[in-house]
Amino acid sequence: MKFSAKGNDVKDLNLAKEGHDLIEWAAREMPVLALIRKRFASEHPLKGLKLAACLHVTSETANLMLTLKAGGADLSLCASNPLSTNDAVAAALAATHAIKTYAIRGEDNDTYYEHIEAALDHHPAMTMDDGADLVSVLHKQRESQIKEVIGGTEETTTGVVRLRAMAAKGVLRYPIVAVNEADTKHMFDNRYGTGQSTIDGIIRATNVLLAGKTFVIAGYGWVGRGLASRAKGHGADVVVTEVDSVKALEAAMDGFRVMKMEDAAKDGDIFVTVTGDVNVLDRHHFETMKDGAILANSGHFNSEINLKALDDLATGVRQVRPSVQEYKMADGRRLHILGEGRLINLAAAEGHPAAVMDMSFANQALCAEYIVKNASKLENKVYDVPDDIDAEVAKLKLHAMGIEIDTLTAEQKHYLTSWEEGT
Ligand SMILES: NC(=O)c1ccc[n+]([C@@H]2O[C@H](COP(=O)([O-])OP(=O)(O)OC[C@H]3O[C@@H](n4cnc5c(N)ncnc54)[C@H](O)[C@@H]3O)[C@@H](O)[C@H]2O)c1
Repeated sequence: MKFSAKGNDVKDLNLAKEGHDLIEWAAREMPVLALIRKRFASEHPLKGLKLAACLHVTSETANLMLTLKAGGADLSLCASNPLSTNDAVAAALAATHAIKTYAIRGEDNDTYYEHIEAALDHHPAMTMDDGADLVSVLHKQRESQIKEVIGGTEETTTGVVRLRAMAAKGVLRYPIVAVNEADTKHMFDNRYGTGQSTIDGIIRATNVLLAGKTFVIAGYGWVGRGLASRAKGHGADVVVTEVDSVKALEAAMDGFRVMKMEDAAKDGDIFVTVTGDVNVLDRHHFETMKDGAILANSGHFNSEINLKALDDLATGVRQVRPSVQEYKMADGRRLHILGEGRLINLAAAEGHPAAVMDMSFANQALCAEYIVKNASKLENKVYDVPDDIDAEVAKLKLHAMGIEIDTLTAEQKHYLTSWEEGT
């Protein structure tokens, strides 16, 4: 493999100094990971572990890589999305920290998969995925390597969905810990992290005023909830579309208008898909949207907006700003796609703020340690993050934030575990 020989494939190693500064800046907001890194540096729980990571190559991910390296891991890293790499960070990882890095912002699909292959050429014993592409390539094209793998972790909802589907079909061939399922991951990263950074991406891409706009959100899961509350905070009129009755009810009682997408399509100024589903915005929606509508996705894959159908409908497409493509319809309407329909918070902004990635990546580091310690007991299943890891991450984060909480008295502990006392 061409990149493995070089050990890296990044845009420009001369960007390393800039990347190093970005990594240090993010570290200031990642105190939990710093504590773990300190312990890892003295205990080396990952000593000699070959680990391949397929994550968004950002300054926060770099801090995770440095933590795993401090723990003794031998790392290879590739991007989990063609548009999410920070080239300066990738350069710093490769040049300053000697981590084998294969990621270039804007890489085409072929290069994206070549980079995954390059990371796997290092014969990992553990995979760390964001969207399950490493697991998928290993299972489909590199079966002979699977016996070398003791386990893996998965960062995002969509990856967990894919892996559970593999486990249900009996084809998953090594254990995975679903980091996304930790409370200290999805309740904060997906809700507050994606909520804020998605708005950030839309604003950086377009500079539109959100106040007074009709802001349509498809999906009211963890990401949708965070996004809705933040869009409301900007003064937008928020509309939610859902397919799950409970989530739809929750959105309605949280004060948002809830309707079908075919109705919202006619009304919306800005549309954001956060469902993990496909073709949520489709041809019949594009046909009724207003001139000037803005369409973005912050779900994992770029299949939530049917770009092929939009392309078929359009009489012309032009780039009108760095992250904005204008699709001209036959009747003269213009629809705007942000960041090629890829995760807008990474395509046009910098992804999640470090303060939430601190918790997500603390879970990643502790789960890697957990897999090493428990490899012989784990089956080929998708596991939740152990409760004690989740609780430890929350405790450390509160401590770092200077927040103290109460503890149960002996009387309260007894009361909460008994049934005899009533009115
Ligand atoms: N941009 C990022 O950085 C980032 C961060 C975290 C998660 N994600 C991704 O965002 C997506 C959502 O994650 P989540 O944690 O909120 O998931 P979730 O499962 O909590 O929520 C998804 C919601 O979408 C709804 N939905 C499914 N199909 C729909 C449709 N056709 N129309 C309307 N609603 C529909 C579901 O009912 C569900 O309520 C996933 O793809 C996840 O991987 C992205």
